[in-house]
Amino acid sequence: MGTEIPVHVGIIMDGNGRWAQMRGRTRSQGHLEGLKAAKRIVKAASDMGIRYLTLYAFSTENWKRTADEVGFIMGLIKQYLRGELDFYRENRIRIRHAGDAAGLPLDIQAELLSAAADTAAFEGTQVILAINYGGRDEIVRALRRLAASGRMTGADMPALTERDIAACLDNPDVPDPDLIIRSAGEYRTSNFLLWEGAYAELCVSPKFWPDWTGDDLAAALSVFQGRDRRFGGIPAVAAAVKS
Ligand code: FPP
Repeated sequence: MGTEIPVHVGIIMDGNGRWAQMRGRTRSQGHLEGLKAAKRIVKAASDMGIRYLTLYAFSTENWKRTADEVGFIMGLIKQYLRGELDFYRENRIRIRHAGDAAGLPLDIQAELLSAAADTAAFEGTQVILAINYGGRDEIVRALRRLAASGRMTGADMPALTERDIAACLDNPDVPDPDLIIRSAGEYRTSNFLLWEGAYAELCVSPKFWPDWTGDDLAAALSVFQGRDRRFGGIPAVAAAVKS
């Protein structure tokens, strides 16, 4: 049983819609409560000393939702980026983005740039907002960046390494997630951190996202601490036994 805190935690914040449906409320109300939960979890992660927290706020597939729902979520994201500056400052939280910024509305692009610039020097928890994010899309964009950099041409492709691709991801300095949490009970990763999450521990909670509190994050961390991470190797006990 380990006691170490994961350096990087990713969260698939799922279940806003079901939370609302169960209460006879609108999906928008579910997302609004989801935003409040995200604020609670960012504060809890910061208090626990988690270095990196990636929140899956809007996927490349979420554009399939109605224009009203997409517009509402974008409004919440804008409100979160603009309205929380005092909170970021007090808690030394740095805001970053993962995803295809160019595919976002211009006002959201501007808010992301401004929140990232305003918080760039803060040395506390780094909150990476995955917005218009898809794991496959990130890998495609990474390969395009690599090609555009001129560092590798077609003739160099046989020598391509994992490191070459990793260096062109959205946030290459951020370590891979140790733990990926999903709320609302479904056992899938839904195109989240496909490359980076290769060896992340997965923790699925049945609780809908709007009900999440710091206690749920603490419980997920205890599950993580109970895991034996082998990265494809063998357990220490087995390694000591002669094969
Ligand atoms: C998944 O629930 C949630 C989303 C697609 C949106 C998440 C957005 C927020 C919580 C607000 C913005 C957050 C930040 C941090 C800026 P769902 O709608 O898929 O739920 P369902 O599967 O029950 O329908």
